[in-house]
Amino acid sequence: MLVVSVVSLKGGVGKTSVVLGLAGAGWERGLRVLVVDLDPQANASTVLDPPSVTYTTNDVLADARAGVLADAVARSGWGPRVDVVPAEPALEHRNRVDASTTRDGALRLRIAMEGLVGYDVVLVDSPPSLGELTKNALAASHRALVVTEPTLFALHGAQQALDAVDVVRSGYNLRLRPAGIVVNRTRAQQTEHAYRLEELTAAYGELLFTPPLPDRAAVQQAEGAYVPVQAWRSAGARELGQIFEDYLARLLTTNERAGPLVVSTHADLGGDRG
Ligand SMILES: Nc1ncnc2c1ncn2[C@@H]1O[C@H](COP(=O)(O)OP(=O)(O)O)[C@@H](O)[C@H]1O
Ligand SMILES: [Mg+2]
Repeated sequence: MLVVSVVSLKGGVGKTSVVLGLAGAGWERGLRVLVVDLDPQANASTVLDPPSVTYTTNDVLADARAGVLADAVARSGWGPRVDVVPAEPALEHRNRVDASTTRDGALRLRIAMEGLVGYDVVLVDSPPSLGELTKNALAASHRALVVTEPTLFALHGAQQALDAVDVVRSGYNLRLRPAGIVVNRTRAQQTEHAYRLEELTAAYGELLFTPPLPDRAAVQQAEGAYVPVQAWRSAGARELGQIFEDYLARLLTTNERAGPLVVSTHADLGGDRG
């Protein structure tokens, strides 16, 4: 089971759309997919459209006992092989570190995921900040997939996200690796985009996922219809579907090179555990 966090320290670049595109690629291949929504905006939860919700990631992080995430898994509206642990707006207050939070505050999701089985891939969506929620996402993951747009500000956000991956890796999670960088919403005819793509290739080389994701109305159309883009019928949707399939294949093959798991986790956990 591969756990992938999708991160960016800038909002609106397409984290959630990439989570949903990868989930859709898994759905199409018949894989068992779990989406864990750690963004209080809950956009991924909305599109995955679970028919009924009992617990959210807010409850999971509040409790944080080993294995408790499994209790919060809801079926999605996408079918029996795609599940979701939805977010809710109240999750926002967990993004801040308060006086009672220790180093172990960032390990709550990881502890809650202990013993989770039955999925080929777990995709964690995160908010656009390096707060406690993104730290929790990264601390629980094997891989971090960074999303950016081909614009100057977004590139700064991508570098910050890679730096954050390093910080969490050395602090909490030695098995964490950057999976790569997805460049989203490219427009081929735009010279600024072409320039930024060249710049990215020069700076990050192999770390870039290729081809980049084009800007296509199908992303918003499928999201607006609460379905995977792979289920949308248009030329743009087919193009995106093919790219997400390639991305998912790349993620799943890099799994073999996952690093060792060497972090001491909950043995010394005290405090508010429910
Ligand atoms: N490749 C794309 N083509 C067209 N629209 C996109 C694409 N990727 C994302 N969008 C749209 O851009 C907006 C922001 O994307 P979203 O995935 O919510 O970003 P984030 O999760 O990083 O905030 C959404 O309305 C989404 O539908
Ligand atoms: Mg989002």
